[in-house]
Amino acid sequence: MSTALNLPAVTVLGLGPMGRSLAGAFLKAGLRTTVWNRTPGKDGELTEQGAAGAASAEEAVAAGELIVVCVVNYDAADAILRRDEVARALKGRTVVNLTADTPDRARDTAQWAAAQGIDYLDGAIMTPAPSIGTPEAVFLHSGPRDLYDRHRTALDVLGGTHTHLGEEIGRAAAFDIALLDIFWTAMAGYAHAVAIARAEGVTARELAPFAQGIGAILPPLFETFAEDADSGTYSGEINPITSAVSTMAHVVAVSESHGIDAGVMRSVEGQARRVIGLGHGTDGFIRVAEVLGRH
Ligand SMILES: NC(=O)c1ccc[n+]([C@@H]2O[C@H](COP(=O)([O-])OP(=O)(O)OC[C@H]3O[C@@H](n4cnc5c(N)ncnc54)[C@H](OP(=O)(O)O)[C@@H]3O)[C@@H](O)[C@H]2O)c1
Repeated sequence: MSTALNLPAVTVLGLGPMGRSLAGAFLKAGLRTTVWNRTPGKDGELTEQGAAGAASAEEAVAAGELIVVCVVNYDAADAILRRDEVARALKGRTVVNLTADTPDRARDTAQWAAAQGIDYLDGAIMTPAPSIGTPEAVFLHSGPRDLYDRHRTALDVLGGTHTHLGEEIGRAAAFDIALLDIFWTAMAGYAHAVAIARAEGVTARELAPFAQGIGAILPPLFETFAEDADSGTYSGEINPITSAVSTMAHVVAVSESHGIDAGVMRSVEGQARRVIGLGHGTDGFIRVAEVLGRH
C-alpha cells in the first residue's frame, strides 16, 4: 500500500510530457509511484523526486495497484499491455488508460482486458501537461461506475475536474474526439485567417484582439446551438443560413484571389448550400450537422 492516506500504490506507464506530469502529481501527493517508459532515460527527474524506476513494464505493473497508461495512441498502449508477461501481471489490477484514441479502440481494449481479468477504465485528458496537478486540469472518464468510485480519491490528486461520463467505455473517447474536432477545425480556421490577413497586409498581432473577440462569441453559442441540435428546431432568426453563406463565399473569393487554399471554407460553404437546397435556408447554421452524415 502507498503511504499517503491509504491511497493505492500507482504505476505510470509512458513518460512523455503527459505521463511525466501525471507521475509528478502522484509523487507530490505522496503516493508510492513506480514509472516505466519504453525508451529508458526519461525517469531521471521523477526518480530524484522519489519514484521507483522499473526495468520493465511487467516489473512496473507488479509494483502498483492502480496502473495509469499514457502513451501516444492505442497501438502503443496495446503493444505494452498485451504482451503476455504484462497481461499476466495486470490480472486483478485496475488499468486507467489515459491515452487518446478512438472510441472503438477503447471498446476493443476494454473487451481484451475483461477477458484477461483486468479491471479497466478509459479516460481522456482535455488540458495540456502543465495543467496536471492544478485546478485547470480536465479529465473525462468512462467505464464501470463502482471501479471509478473506488479509484476516485487517487485520481483526484491529479487535480482539476474529473467527470464520469457513463459506463459505456467509449464515452470518454467520444467526447475527446468531438472536442478535438472543435479545437482543430478552429485552429485550422485561425491559421487560414492569418494567411489571408497577411496577404492583405494585416499582421497576426494586429488581428489578435479582434480574433479574441470573434473567439469569445463561440462559447455561449455552444449552449444555444445545443438546444437547437437536440430539439431539431435550428432557429435562424438572428442569422439565417442564406445570409451566412454569402459571407463564406467572400472568404473563398479573397483566399483564391491570393492563391491561398480555400478547401476548408469551400467545404463549409458547400454544406451550407446543401442545407439551402434542401429547403432549410431560413434555418441557423447548425442545421449543417443534420446533413453532414447524409450521402
Ligand atoms: N502533452 C499534452 O499536453 C497532452 C494533452 C492532452 C492529452 N494528451 C495525450 O496524452 C498521451 C501522451 O501524450 P504525451 O504528451 O505524453 O506524449 P506523446 O508524444 O503523445 O507520447 C509519448 C509516449 O508514447 C510512448 N510510445 C510511443 N510509441 C510507443 C510504442 N510503440 N510502444 C510503447 N510506447 C510508445 C513514448 O515512449 P518512447 O519515449 O519510448 O517513445 C512516450 O512514453 C497522448 O495520447 C496525448 O494525446 C497529451
